[in-house]
Amino acid sequence: MAGGSLRKKPHKRSSPKEAQPPMPSGSSSSRSNYRKISLFAMVFLVFWVLIVLCISSSMWTGLGSDARLDQVYSIEVVKEFPHDPTAFTQGLLYGGNDTLFESTGLRGQSSIRKVALQTGKILALHKMDDSYFGEGLTLLGERLFQVTWLENIGFIYDRNNFSKFEKFTHQMQDGWGLATDGKVLYGSDGTSTLYQIDPQTLKVIQKQNVKYKDHEVPNLNELEYVNGEIWANVWETDCIARISHENGVVLGWILLPSLRQGLLKAGRRNLDVLNGIAWDSDRNRLFVTGKLWPKLYEIKLHPVREKPSDGVIERMCIRKPVQFVRQ
Ligand SMILES: *[C@@H]1O[C@H](CO)[C@@H](O)[C@H](O)[C@H]1NC(C)=O
Ligand SMILES: *[C@@H]1O[C@H](CO)[C@@H](O)[C@H](O)[C@H]1NC(C)=O
Repeated sequence: MAGGSLRKKPHKRSSPKEAQPPMPSGSSSSRSNYRKISLFAMVFLVFWVLIVLCISSSMWTGLGSDARLDQVYSIEVVKEFPHDPTAFTQGLLYGGNDTLFESTGLRGQSSIRKVALQTGKILALHKMDDSYFGEGLTLLGERLFQVTWLENIGFIYDRNNFSKFEKFTHQMQDGWGLATDGKVLYGSDGTSTLYQIDPQTLKVIQKQNVKYKDHEVPNLNELEYVNGEIWANVWETDCIARISHENGVVLGWILLPSLRQGLLKAGRRNLDVLNGIAWDSDRNRLFVTGKLWPKLYEIKLHPVREKPSDGVIERMCIRKPVQFVRQ
């Protein structure tokens, strides 16, 4: 298209008269002035088109579809907060007013809690029945939805009174992660499937197979809805996948191995995996933590300038699916 418009210009130039506005009569110097001006305008136009072409082509190489779909982010820690080192974090979300809601796992230790962000102090706690292993948690209106591991049973709690709760069953293979956009629930069950669940009927209304390039991404764990995307911890990795809920495509990867490395360097032991993403949409704050981690981090993302070489993301962020059976 641009080449065509370049070629057209000389034609226009060959019959400049048609384009000429009425001129003061008998003034040959003003006519030659006009020619100079129109020649100048033409040169200027050609120059301008070339500049635009250069800029747009360099934009395409930088923001081409490949780079956009495949963006990799490193993180910067903005602030550290205390986190209960006995909390086996399975669900995390921001509840407003500098509080978090958290769901913890392990049989006999499963709970949901309301936690003060700044101090890590537990403001309210509901201990689950010992037969349940708590998993993902999300808040829709006044209700907290929670799923459990190796069961198709979940619970709905009143956010202001954890003693008020009811049981539900769902249609996922297992209960791992939950998130919401305020309309539907998004769920994960340890496979590569991202579910959409009707919060009223609790029936699955849509499923997407989450893929990065040609690879399925199993082990989708804790979920968070962030600015129109689903962000997922991938179990047993230090990666968060940014997923399109429309087609399941992984739009980008956030790499967080520095957090675990920092804790290990500080002498912390018995850490389990990175898990837990919370998004404060009012103040654009992003929080992450891990199971049995003594800290919770507010982080910022930075797109990495150099794309990791081929296979690096696959090795870091994708694990084989694991079959769990209830004992
Ligand atoms: C916010 O938290 C503070 C401190 O815990 C509390 O005093 C205040 O009542 C809370 N505000 C709201 C609107 O919940
Ligand atoms: C919380 O809910 C329980 C069970 O419905 C009820 O017995 C209790 O009075 C409630 N507590 C408060 C403070 O509302």
